[in-house]
This record gives sequence, structure tokens and C-alpha cells, in this order.
Amino acid sequence: MAGGGILTHGGAGKDYPGNLTRWRDVDGSVFLRKFFPSVYRKEAVDSSTNQYCKFNSQILTLFTSSLYLAALVASFFASMVTQNLGRKISMFLGGLIFLCGALLNALAQNISMLIIGRILLGIGVGFATQSVPLFVSEMAPHKYRGALNVCFQLCITVGILVANLVNYGTNMIKGNWGWRLSLGGAAVPAVLMVLSSLWVSETPNFLIGRGNYSMAKRKLQRIRGVDVDVQAEFEDLMAASEALKQVKHPWSNLKMRKHRPQLVLAILIPFFQQLTGINVVMFYAPELFKTIGFGSNASLVSSAITGGVNVAATFLSIYGTDRWGRKKLFIGGGIVMLVFQSAVAALIGTKFGFSGDAIELGKSYSGVVVSCSCLFVAAFACSWGPLGWLVPSEIFPLEIRSAGQSIVVAVNMLSTFVIAQGFLVALCFAKYLLFVAFAVCVLVMTLFVIFFVPETMNIPIEEMSRVWRTHWYWKRYVDEDDNGARISPIEMI
Ligand code: BGC
Repeated sequence: MAGGGILTHGGAGKDYPGNLTRWRDVDGSVFLRKFFPSVYRKEAVDSSTNQYCKFNSQILTLFTSSLYLAALVASFFASMVTQNLGRKISMFLGGLIFLCGALLNALAQNISMLIIGRILLGIGVGFATQSVPLFVSEMAPHKYRGALNVCFQLCITVGILVANLVNYGTNMIKGNWGWRLSLGGAAVPAVLMVLSSLWVSETPNFLIGRGNYSMAKRKLQRIRGVDVDVQAEFEDLMAASEALKQVKHPWSNLKMRKHRPQLVLAILIPFFQQLTGINVVMFYAPELFKTIGFGSNASLVSSAITGGVNVAATFLSIYGTDRWGRKKLFIGGGIVMLVFQSAVAALIGTKFGFSGDAIELGKSYSGVVVSCSCLFVAAFACSWGPLGWLVPSEIFPLEIRSAGQSIVVAVNMLSTFVIAQGFLVALCFAKYLLFVAFAVCVLVMTLFVIFFVPETMNIPIEEMSRVWRTHWYWKRYVDEDDNGARISPIEMI
């Protein structure tokens, strides 16, 4: 995330950006001196010891978070490609553009190359986050859809962990070229993504939409297993495709009253995911590790521990999402996050108060803060992290699925951008109350899940409409047409 090193985003298209590290951790001084000399000079003379008001260059942050803006815009183009040319092409383009961005960054001679490279990375992320969750949701048998989709988040967490460790390693390289290796390292997962997109086949849903019925049926049979009777599922896909044919403008369809539940969730879930404050906690982790005595190794230890916890806890979600359901994970994770985000706020507030004066925290006190942060990260990793991508990708009917997924990506990227850009300013202003505010958001989003998010586990994706029809609140939207008149049950079918 922003404020952090550009290198933390260095995964493939699937390696969606997220973590925060300090610029100076990323072969920082060399990089800064070369591309941002004025920021480097300012940072060098900054002697503030206030814990809340850190050195903050909006230009530098803007450069870092330009990736999110590029991803945001790209997700709308990606939606057209995914809808009209296919999920496979979208993933292929995402990987290819990401690869170009990584190479341009690694070879950068001037700031323009760096900026263009960064924008290309963002476009790659936009395409990948638009098409991959959708592809997985359509391909997976509904019983395993959750677990398979959470693997997308697993790639994100592994990407963050590896990128941070690589950054640490390249920072040690003498000769001022380690940063090139860090930036270029993003090419590895990008190549993997390009190759795997060539290897996978197009989803039956897309093939049916294109009128390739017999090929779609063969594919469905192949991916479900030759001895499985796929007729019922195939008929559902055909029905969905009929609905798709009636739709000339998916974007205006999205605004229809009957799609209100999906639209609200597609906006609020990614928005809330960022309001958990996950990226802020991860940003602060290296500082905390420093205070418990890891000194110059703090960023390595922090990356390994918080990054490792992030990866490990994602497996719990892979295990639980199709067994216990999305809601239980959302709610359980939300409660644990609420407890530990509040604890972090209280611990920081007790020591630094409103002044933020640098005082010795002491090892055991810092140890408690670090443990609370890790438990918060773990709770996020088995709930809002993966489910923030999974649930929105499985709730849209085929005719607006691609457009809907773009909304999810755009809202996620916009919220990440705003938090990245505003977090240091907000921290300086609100002090520890910023963490209190995140805790309040976690409470609100947990209540939102309890009342407004239906359980989607084990429901075939093309039969999802039934969850709204039986939901205490949303049923009024799907039962009425755009003029508020009741639709008869026959028409609904
Ligand atoms: C979020 C990122 C976050 C990452 C942490 C993702 O689901 O979208 O913003 O950095 O999880 O693992």
C-alpha cells in the first residue's frame, strides 16, 4: 500500500497490491536519491520524533498509489474484454501488461519510465482482479467454489510475503542495483500468469454466451468429471445465457431495482474490507518490531512474522469457507478483529496519548502490541481478506457479472488509494483515535454482515437469485419491478 515501498506490490497480476513498507527499506536511499532527490533531501533532514506525525511526501505516495488509480480505470476496460472476448484473454492481457510494467520498472533510467511502468502494473492488476475471481467462481463446482476462490487471496498473501523478503534481500546487495532486481522480480509471477492463462480453458458460461453450446457442454463435462451428470447445471447455464442475450447495456442493468442487493454488496464489501485498517496495521508492523528489539532486522522479522501469519491464516479460510459458510467466517473474523484493533488502539493511546512523544515502550509492552497486531492480521486473513473478493464474485447473475466485478475492483482500488494517500495525514491529526475509528468500522461492517449479507455457501452460481428471494430485507427488491409493482412468482422464474 502507499506510503510504502513500490516493491511490495511486485507480484504477478494475481499478486494484488497490499502491503506497506517504508521507502527506505527498499534500497530506499539509492532509489530515492535517483528518482526523487527533493524528497530524499527533505527526508534526510527530518528529525521529528513524534510517533504520529511521520515524514510524509504526498508526491511520493501519489506515485506509489498511482497503481491503484490505474487499476481502477483498467477494471472497466477489463470488464468489456472479459464479457466480450473471454475470461482467458482478460487474464492473459493482465499478465502481459503486468510483465511489461515490471520490465520497464526494472530497466528505468528516468522517472517517466518508472511512472509508465507503474501505471502498466496497475493496469495488469485491474485486469487480473477483474477476471481471476470471476473465472474461478465460474469454473469451480459449487461445493468447492469458496475454497478455490480463496486461493486467489492465498496468491495475494504469498505475493506480499515473498515480495517483502525479496526486498529485504535485495536491499543488502552492494552496488546500487538491488532495487532493479526487486522491481524486476515482479516479472516472475507475471510470466506464470501469462503461461497459465494460455493453459486454462474458457469457462462454459462464456462459451454458452457465445453460442458454442456443444463445446460448452464438453468443457463442463470435463471440468466436473466424466461420470457426473451435468445436464441440470448445463440447463441453468443456458437459461442464464438467454437472460444475457436480452441485455444490451450491462451497466444500466446494474442500476435496476432487482439488482440492488448485488450492487450494494459489490460496493460495500470491498469498501469495508479496506476500512478494517489492514494495510495500516501492516504498515506499522516494522516500527513495532523495531521497538521490541529487532533493530535493523525489524523489517525482515516483521515481514516474515506478519506476512507468515497472513499466509497461514488464509488456509483456515480455505478449509472453512465451504464447511462453515461465509457468514460465520465474516462474523467470527470481524469479532476477533474488533477485539484486537481496539486493543491496539488502547495500547498505543495509553503510551503515546495525544502528544505522540517518543517514549520507550519497553519490550514486553511492545510484544503485546505486536501480538495483538498479528492476531488482527490473522483474523483478517481468514475472513474479510479472502471473502472481500469471494462473495462479490459469486452474487451477480451472468448478464451483469463482468460489469459487477469491475465495480468491486474499482471500489477496492479507490478505497485502498484513499487510505494510502490519507493515512499518514489522518494519523497525525486523529492520533490513536484513528485506530479507534477503524475498530468502529469493523463493528459496523460486522453488523452489516449479520443483517444484510446472505449465506452463499453451497449455492450454484446460476441459482444465486434464490438467496435474495428468501432474505428478510432484500426480497422486497427482487419481488418488485422498477416501478415498485410486484412481480408474480411465474415471471420471476
Ligand atoms: C486486500 C489488500 C490487503 C491484502 C492483505 C487483500 O484482500 O485487498 O488490500 O493488502 O488482502 O493480505
